[in-house]
Amino acid sequence: MIDLRSDTFTLPSRGMRDAIYNAEVGDDVYREDPTVRRLEEKGCELSGKEDCLFASSGCMGNLIAISIQAGRGAEVLCAPQSHIVCHEIGALSSIGLTQPMTVPSTADGLIIPSQLQAFTRDYAYDMADRPLIEVENTTSGIVYPLESVKSIHAFAKENGMNVHTDGARIFNAVVQTGIPLSQWAQYTDSITFCLSKGLGAPMGSLLCGSAAFIEKARRMRKLLGGGMRQIGFMAAAGLYALENNVERLAEDHENARMIKEALEDTDWAKIERYGTNMVFFSVRKTDNRSVIEYLKTKDILALEDAGYIRIVTSLNVDRKQTEEVVKAIKEFRV
Ligand SMILES: Cc1ncc(COP(=O)(O)O)c(C=O)c1O
Repeated sequence: MIDLRSDTFTLPSRGMRDAIYNAEVGDDVYREDPTVRRLEEKGCELSGKEDCLFASSGCMGNLIAISIQAGRGAEVLCAPQSHIVCHEIGALSSIGLTQPMTVPSTADGLIIPSQLQAFTRDYAYDMADRPLIEVENTTSGIVYPLESVKSIHAFAKENGMNVHTDGARIFNAVVQTGIPLSQWAQYTDSITFCLSKGLGAPMGSLLCGSAAFIEKARRMRKLLGGGMRQIGFMAAAGLYALENNVERLAEDHENARMIKEALEDTDWAKIERYGTNMVFFSVRKTDNRSVIEYLKTKDILALEDAGYIRIVTSLNVDRKQTEEVVKAIKEFRV
């Protein structure tokens, strides 16, 4: 099967499996796992932040970061389409005791910095605080312009707020733009990024921020049941991912571009959203289900997402397979 459903389906390579097998481990709750320490140091080096914490997932990293920086009862400014709003089972409210306050965004789901001004307000005894803005980069594969990220950060600082970035796929942005992670991270107080997904590790996210923040984050991870013992095996996969699987994301972007162009050449598909490794399209004269079923007959898996068909390229799919996808798209008749 050519799996274009999501980059979350990536499988560890032989080299990554060897790194896992050979990892040196210890009890990470006592901070005695040398491989986790190396991974967290790597997170600091890449992000330019003072400290870093290995969290079991992107959701956990976001929850920890937001709960600590927003605080009980506070509102978190974010885009309505963001992962924390749509795909984290309401953790922001149910566990984090915060509430999302959605702000105007582009059709692609990027916060519009010029419209944030409407969300400032003077202190009022009956209104929730608004101490945090959450930015998701990339969002549905789309990279924020660096200028927007700078403006959001400047707005936040002018108004006494912090910024948290859900950078689950920030390395797709890094590879696409050539802007290093440390530069993106300058404009956010905290950032999470996933070692799973496009980077190919089985699990794990790094949460980076100030030393004082990460000290609190480490305690909250424990509170959530996320303190892990001999987890260096998974940290070794993460290190392998950062050392071997970042630059190659460019291949995924190129493969996504080839698929997007094939869809554009048809009379039945319309590109709705496209960036880095993701293509969202709608269909004419047919329906999503028929197209997904047709692709399945060609051993190609795609998903329906928010009313569109979604295609995500990753290390699961090489150039030859991409060419097969392009051929299948060209051959589809409504
Ligand atoms: C943008 C974004 N943020 C956060 C997450 C959560 O990551 P995890 O599945 O590791 O909890 C995902 C997962 O797909 C995501 O796409």
